[in-house]
Amino acid sequence: MIDEYVNKIIQGDCLEIMLKIPDNSVDVTFADPPFNLGKKYNGYKDNKEFNVYLEWCNKWIYEMFRITKPTGSIFVHNIPKWLTYYSNFLNKAAYFKHWIAWDAQTAPMGKSLQPSHYGILYYVKNPKERKFHEIRYPHKRCRKCGYLLKDYGGKKASLHPFGPLISDVWTDIHRIKHNKYRDEHPCQLPTHLLERIILMSTDENDIVLDPFVGTGTTAIAAKRLGRKFIGIDIDEKYVNITRNKLSKETSNSKVGDVWVSFYLDEILTIRDKDWVKLAQYSLIPENIKDIDFIKTKFNKHTRLLKYEKDRVLQIHNE
Ligand SMILES: C[S@@+](CC[C@H](N)C(=O)[O-])C[C@H]1O[C@@H](n2cnc3c(N)ncnc32)[C@H](O)[C@@H]1O
Repeated sequence: MIDEYVNKIIQGDCLEIMLKIPDNSVDVTFADPPFNLGKKYNGYKDNKEFNVYLEWCNKWIYEMFRITKPTGSIFVHNIPKWLTYYSNFLNKAAYFKHWIAWDAQTAPMGKSLQPSHYGILYYVKNPKERKFHEIRYPHKRCRKCGYLLKDYGGKKASLHPFGPLISDVWTDIHRIKHNKYRDEHPCQLPTHLLERIILMSTDENDIVLDPFVGTGTTAIAAKRLGRKFIGIDIDEKYVNITRNKLSKETSNSKVGDVWVSFYLDEILTIRDKDWVKLAQYSLIPENIKDIDFIKTKFNKHTRLLKYEKDRVLQIHNE
């Protein structure tokens, strides 16, 4: 029965649509709801009464929980204020894993600390069965000189050639700033944010559902990574933009046969367990201590043979 919804973008009220979806049928649910901050959407009015907003949120959060498989995960993105209420509700049924702090400047809130992160609540339905893959991101480097930003002192030799394991504070993904990269939508998320979440919590062909898909970020990320998607949005205009973008998208975010997330042609997220395979496509500095100023490079399609690696390093040193 879930098949009739899979790989579809559905226009409608997410509550009505989710009610028709069977229990325990999707691998991951991710929601980025309206934040009730008076944003100018195409049709939706983003200014509900405090209690009306929260009661509404509890309804769709409950549906997300119900339709997620026991091996699955539930992610909800919002400003910290609303997440405190969501947590209170989710704690009654699901298991808290993380509050991911996504480091991004948000709107000033009057006389307060400058809000500088969004939260992504990460819950699982069954901690013993949950699917989780450790994630790595590239070492942070000085933009001008290319050197590692962190001083690892004498520990450089034991650094991972690609980069460290990710923590629950994500500082390397930025909000979409330029209009040329965004659609006509006030709060579109960056695709590589969703790609990281999807790589962390799913496998190929798993189903990811987003009840507030907007202009399709979650669906695009899922398709690029060979996952299935179900996207719902109430607004016809956003649904059409998403369907149009999806028709041009391919499932090809790979190095060799390994799914990875790219940003501007650079790999931004890998799964730790995939490193063994990925290393075959990478040029790692011969002396690992040189990682301080030489970045591990990848050739997307070609396995680099040892002699090629030596030659490239030789060229680099000449
Ligand atoms: C914060 S935006 C999501 C943006 C999305 N993550 C993206 O990257 O494009 C919230 C979306 O919820 C949609 N929406 C509001 N009420 C809805 C409802 N009852 N059912 C489904 N979608 C709804 C709005 O049209 C809007 O596109």
